Amino acid sequence: MADVLHYQVRDGVAVITIDNPPVNALSPAVWERLDELVARANADAAAEAIVVIGAGTTFIAGADIKVFDTLRTREDSLKRSGGTHALLKRIEDSAKPLVAAIHGNALGGGLEVAQACHFRVAVKDAKIGQPEVMLGIIPGAGGTQRLPRLCGAELALTMCTDGKPVPAPKAMAAGIVDQIVDGELLSGAITYAKARARAGDRRKTREIPHGVDQVAAGLNACSAMRESLKKTAKGLHAPFAAVDAIEAGLRSDFDAGSIREREIFAGCVVSTESKALRHLFFAEREVAKVPDVPKDTPTKDIQRAAVVGAGTMGGGIAMNYANAGIPVLLKEVDQAALDGGLATIRRNYEITMSKGKMTRDQVDKTMALITPTTSYEGFDQVDIVTEAVFENMTLKKTTFAELGTVTRPDCILASNSSTLDIDQFAQASGRPGQVLGHHYFSPANVMKLLEMVRGKATRKEVIATSLKLAKKLNKVGVVVGNCFGFVANRMLAYYMREAYLLLEEGASVPQIDRVLTDFGLPVGPFGMQDIAGIDVGARIRQYLASIGKTRAEGPQSAIPDRLYEMGRYGQKTGAGWYAYDAPGSRNRTPDPLIEQLAEEEAKKRGIMRKPITDEEIIARITTALANEGARVLDDGFATRASDIDVVYVYGFGFPRYRGGPMFYADTVGLPTVVARVKEYRARFGDYWEPAPLLERLVSEGRGFYTSVSDTAISSV
Ligand code: 3HC
Repeated sequence: MADVLHYQVRDGVAVITIDNPPVNALSPAVWERLDELVARANADAAAEAIVVIGAGTTFIAGADIKVFDTLRTREDSLKRSGGTHALLKRIEDSAKPLVAAIHGNALGGGLEVAQACHFRVAVKDAKIGQPEVMLGIIPGAGGTQRLPRLCGAELALTMCTDGKPVPAPKAMAAGIVDQIVDGELLSGAITYAKARARAGDRRKTREIPHGVDQVAAGLNACSAMRESLKKTAKGLHAPFAAVDAIEAGLRSDFDAGSIREREIFAGCVVSTESKALRHLFFAEREVAKVPDVPKDTPTKDIQRAAVVGAGTMGGGIAMNYANAGIPVLLKEVDQAALDGGLATIRRNYEITMSKGKMTRDQVDKTMALITPTTSYEGFDQVDIVTEAVFENMTLKKTTFAELGTVTRPDCILASNSSTLDIDQFAQASGRPGQVLGHHYFSPANVMKLLEMVRGKATRKEVIATSLKLAKKLNKVGVVVGNCFGFVANRMLAYYMREAYLLLEEGASVPQIDRVLTDFGLPVGPFGMQDIAGIDVGARIRQYLASIGKTRAEGPQSAIPDRLYEMGRYGQKTGAGWYAYDAPGSRNRTPDPLIEQLAEEEAKKRGIMRKPITDEEIIARITTALANEGARVLDDGFATRASDIDVVYVYGFGFPRYRGGPMFYADTVGLPTVVARVKEYRARFGDYWEPAPLLERLVSEGRGFYTSVSDTAISSV
């Protein structure tokens, strides 16, 4: 096995290079060799100082996250962190000046190694951060103790609770970095290290004292941060734990603070929150790997795009391209519709500008990338077209037939359909290999998910190009199969079915929405439908009825269709599941009409409405999701359970700290999930049927992930 660290003496300075691709993560071997090589440098008469640098594109992106899965108990964690803390103290005690030379990222444990060095130099575009909270943990290698000593408690609190990296110049202004290197990093670091050796400088971060005033200000900052986290970190534990650890450091000396940090870290690393977030870290990277589309599949560079349909979705999709610097044609049938679409886009950008996130110049330049048109002129120049016309099979087929004639044969033809059969569009285009679904989520310029629907004939190059494009558009692309509703909306139909039925059985719209938002979703099912439009679902149901199908098995509530017939489409009409102040307003109040409709429908179905507990609401809805998710997997429409989790987290805001619906089912326990399905079948009818995969996993004593208590990385 290749050595993960290299040692050389250059110009009288020992250079220790960490070479553990792709991101120089701190595996146990890296820690061990770092310890050895700092000792070797100290014993090496040829070296007067030491530089630690990363090979490749980065310094160190942190501890090896996979290693956390081996920490099954708090005791495992305490033992390991005891070793790490001692090791960092040993290198900090180096008799020769120790300089960290940072490029790329110094994140998590990477920054903690740098903090234990005596000095830090960095290139201008390096990023420095403590992102551990994103993984449900806190800095566990002294970061909560050393960082406040370098930059003060206030910035340390921000960095350790929001997890966002700061650019090197900001880190320098704050005292984390000592010098920005303009030219070649290693040469600059060597020069810097020699100067420190000549001056006899060594500065141990752990010995930097907190002044009395700093302690008082720091403790105040801790209280203020806790207050603010109550609003921004609802449902999370790790950000609060990071504040506790920093506060412990302010109240005691380095060693006592470090012991507290290790204890708090140990509690976090075994938590479900951390397991869920670590699961998603890998799940998000795994989605880009499609088993039969190898990494070296040729891709095309998307330089020009077009969008057909300038409605809410089409406009948002065009914005995605413009935001990524890709010129895009935006086509509508007539000038009035086009003007309306463009006005909405401009308004969206101006809102962004009013929040200080864009300048006037940026807005103008981005808008200039969107070329409005009412014809297909210029479509022969584009590399991809996204169709975003009305969700109507005939209209979409006509559009694809036209696109097949006006675009180049190598142009990708994508459909933003949220439910319909991609293969029918593919046939209509005459170029089935170039066709796939690009299903965006509303608002399309904001939501990160891009569900990529693979048709029977979609070429591998088209999938690989789409995956690459998704990254460029700042989306998370998930490749799914072509079933009705694909993965997201197919499962959503079951989620909504349960919400409607719970309403008929006696729960109220505000109660169901509150329970789901307390669970961690940004909006409940009814609030979500009022935003998306009750008419959208109604039209899909009408289409399905015309081909003799329903969206989800089981009883179909008539309430949504009754609302549609009343013209209550949601926020846009000023009434839906809630009453709104005015059309377009978000200010809502519960509407007694809904209770009346629920009573009527319950009566028709012979149901006596009665109070429903919050627990039942969560159990019914999450069980319906997991059971249908298992069917999606059984049917082969998703590659892995973790892809479904990513779809739900990015498409519907399923709380990350619960890991997604499949991971959540594992935390509940699949035997419990199956037992619930069986109980519901007995109570409600045969439409509740355990998915075969669920039963199989339970009989094998497994979860969707090998076992949540061990690790949640490998999927079925
Ligand atoms: N441990 C293990 N694997 C890691 C890793 C880590 N810390 N960071 C990245 N990787 C892996 C990824 O899984 C991916 O593997 P794959 O190619 O097999 O899918 C590969 O490295 C490349 O990663 P990305 O695809 O994410 O590459 P990018 O260039 O897009 O991003 C990055 C690079 C910004 C460094 C990003 O990978 C990242 O944010 N990494 C995690 C950083 C982090 O959270 N560090 C803290 C870890 S916890 C810690 O240090 C605790 C300490 O306090 C004790």
